Amino acid sequence: MELRIQQVCILVLLVASSADAAWAPHGMVASEHVLASQAGADVLKRGGNAVDAAVATAFAVCVVNPSSCGIGGGGFMLIYLAHQRRALALDYREVAPAAASRDMFVRNGKAVAELSLHGGLAVAVPGEVAGLAAALHRHGTLPLATVMQPAIQLARDGFPVGAHLAKEIVQNVAGLRSNPALAKNFLHPDETPLVAGETLRQPELAETLQQVARRGPQAFYSGAIAKRIVDSDRAAGGVLTESDLAHYQPTWRTPLQTSYEGDTVYAMPPPSSAGILLEVLGMLRDDDLRALEHNSPTYLHLLAEAMKHAFADRAQLYGDPDAVAVPVQRLLSEQNTLALRQRIEATRTLEHSAYGSSAGSGDAAHDHGTSHLSVMDANGNAVACTTTINTGFGAMVVAEGTGIILNDEMDDFATQPGVPNVYGLVGAEANAIAPRKRPLSSMAPLIATRDGKPVLALGGSGGPLILSGTLQVLLNVLDFGLDARSALAAPRIHDQWEPPVLVVEPGVPASTRNLLASYGHTLKEMPAMGAIQAVRTDAGVFEGASDPRKGGEAVGW
Ligand code: GLY
Repeated sequence: MELRIQQVCILVLLVASSADAAWAPHGMVASEHVLASQAGADVLKRGGNAVDAAVATAFAVCVVNPSSCGIGGGGFMLIYLAHQRRALALDYREVAPAAASRDMFVRNGKAVAELSLHGGLAVAVPGEVAGLAAALHRHGTLPLATVMQPAIQLARDGFPVGAHLAKEIVQNVAGLRSNPALAKNFLHPDETPLVAGETLRQPELAETLQQVARRGPQAFYSGAIAKRIVDSDRAAGGVLTESDLAHYQPTWRTPLQTSYEGDTVYAMPPPSSAGILLEVLGMLRDDDLRALEHNSPTYLHLLAEAMKHAFADRAQLYGDPDAVAVPVQRLLSEQNTLALRQRIEATRTLEHSAYGSSAGSGDAAHDHGTSHLSVMDANGNAVACTTTINTGFGAMVVAEGTGIILNDEMDDFATQPGVPNVYGLVGAEANAIAPRKRPLSSMAPLIATRDGKPVLALGGSGGPLILSGTLQVLLNVLDFGLDARSALAAPRIHDQWEPPVLVVEPGVPASTRNLLASYGHTLKEMPAMGAIQAVRTDAGVFEGASDPRKGGEAVGW
């Protein structure tokens, strides 16, 4: 009898572990939905490289997690090419329409959050289709129609609604009910939400994807689809024009990089704020984190203080590098990171205004939309890609007859410099709205390499929780030697400087919280902070893991 109970326990453990981690010899995809990971793994299996697989996964995840991302949004892709031993960064972030202006959301002297979150004005020019096509064109090996096939099939034939989407439908049910184009997909005829396990078909989206697959990105950025995007946006109060769509261009940028623990860590440059993670690595470079012990109060205090300095820099200095000078190299310099480290006290927080390189308010971050995927192939190529329509179901505007849900990325600007956005993040003039400017993003794809070979590809979703989550998973693997699954499962903390709150997950013990409080932190508990997707290699085997907080699944072959 005892033996049988033991066997059942082992079986339960195996089933549980297979749900969020996978091991395979030839390649690996980790994403926020098993069907999207499967689409990418199938591409790897038929000989595609990591870029082919990432593009297939990205299009598929846009279909199966349509509240988080979609072709009405945009993203970032960090690519490591084995044969060239170099990293590349592709920015296909949305841009503000030409008619956008600094105070477009300000009424009676105050930014109106509802305007930058929902309705036509919230919509920035989508970059997803142009970006994925550009990545494939330059570094993929398969035709667009081939890698888009799984997404088209999932949209046309349907798939069972996953737990995450079901939750998002319930959370946004009022908005969905007031929008017939969304209601017809995500609600029953009596306006009750679709529940997990029910089949979701998106025939109009399937047709749109089919046209892009046949004719390439111009099918999206000009002609009938572009006109429908513009007409629907303007009918919802927006200012998009067909010229905005026709002008959209993704941009190849030089990744940021730093050395850490003998590895090279590459990060997406601005308008991503991933640079702040490298700034934290710079602050921690000379600390023996292992000696402090994983998730000990001393370690978590140091991490929180370093994050606060870096987030203060994000708030004050980060923006679109094509529009403002972001002093990222100065921020990452040894001189700056050592100076910041010296200002961190072992058992005490500082005055709020004392954080940040130039040191002389809302709610802490909530988890919203966005989706991340990580891929590695057998030839040593790696991709970390994050994509978003911003908050759940974006602007809640659908381009009529196309199935495209348009983003609300305008809220990622500092809609009124100094006033917090939906994530409680403040921004300065560097992230103020201007025509054709890209809003600052927390999306932070990272790749770590050792001796020129990728060892870890990761990133996440959850607004600014992306930054703290990605950082902690990276440190869990590189410093503490955890496997990807354990690195993701470990409890996390988050401190974005403003508001001045140290957010902790339930797994952080009371004794640790008490000590942190005694150092001066104001603590708040949040049940689950962001969702990270990680792929790593170890002794020639790939491990992929999806964050148990959101329910994705890694698939290898
Ligand atoms: N839309 C969330 C972000 O880019 O940070």
